Amino acid sequence: MAYEETLALIKPDAVKAGHTGKIIEAVIAAPFTICAIKKTMLNRAMAERFYAVHREKPFFDDLVQFMSSGPIYAMVLGGESALLRWRELMGATNFEEAAEGTLRKRFATSLGRNAVHGSDSLENACTEIAIFFSRQEVLPCDIPS
Ligand code: PPS
Repeated sequence: MAYEETLALIKPDAVKAGHTGKIIEAVIAAPFTICAIKKTMLNRAMAERFYAVHREKPFFDDLVQFMSSGPIYAMVLGGESALLRWRELMGATNFEEAAEGTLRKRFATSLGRNAVHGSDSLENACTEIAIFFSRQEVLPCDIPS
């Protein structure tokens, strides 16, 4: 196993529904190190850039509109195999296929309104983290030595 960092988002649907605290509790219990966290809001151009790889998909406009519709939380989660472990904790993209206890099973309300995002590769994690955080804002350890 190797130490990894991944980008996690709490999406506008989950923030609006008041699920932020429960999602952060699950992050800490997993456990992950929260290397960075911020509440922010994407504008349309930022959401288009973030999801550029899906530009040709039929759901792209809906996805961009939704992701820029309200506040989100962006987090850098660190730990052993953090990328895969966060994806497991999120559950399947389609909440109807997500395993019991996963965040999407608990909090998603539709295919698009699925509460959380996680990077799908270490390369994309680097790109996505840089969209939200400078390197100085990402602290892998909770206690400075
Ligand atoms: S694909 O086609 O397999 O590459 O897409 P997928 O990885 O399943 O999903 C990519 C992101 O698009 C969101 N998504 C949707 N949004 C709105 N409407 C529909 N129908 C829809 N289908 C997929 C999905 O939640 C993914 O967002 P992230 O933030 O990456 O989880």
